[in-house]
Amino acid sequence: MIHDLVHGFYATVRTDPALGPIFNRIIGEEWDAHLAKLCDFWSSVMLMTGRFRGSPMVAHTKIPEIQATHFARWLHLFRQSAERMCPPEAAALFVAKSEMIAQSLQYGIAATRGELPPHTERAVS
Ligand code: HEM
Repeated sequence: MIHDLVHGFYATVRTDPALGPIFNRIIGEEWDAHLAKLCDFWSSVMLMTGRFRGSPMVAHTKIPEIQATHFARWLHLFRQSAERMCPPEAAALFVAKSEMIAQSLQYGIAATRGELPPHTERAVS
């Protein structure tokens, strides 16, 4: 199921007008390796297999053009793929995990760009 979802989802992403150019520029000829990595990633997330060894935060903070609109589009397409290809309970879990991870990636990206307010010290009384 993970294999089919990952391959089906990225087939859509690659031709998406908003996301496709970013992925195709960075991944280039390495799609097979990228898809294998993403299968390992989702295997680790959903089944806790520990198969994924990577640094998603670092990978995404290095993509200058990523914006909130890209994440919204990614999440929309991922939900569509999950709901089309998985039984409802599994789709709901994929979607919930994707939304949590996207949120933390966006915080990480914002922090590296200096877009988050500085931490405020608690007043000492
Ligand atoms: C705006 C939406 C997104 C875009 C445009 C995007 C783009 C990319 C690109 C271009 C790479 C390859 C980086 C490289 O090889 O240097 C990558 C890697 C990856 N992405 Fe995304 N991504 C997005 C959202 C997400 C989300 C929401 C997740 C997880 C739920 C995710 C999971 C991953 C993982 C696990 C990798 C491999 C990281 C590694 O090599 O350690 N991505 N992404």
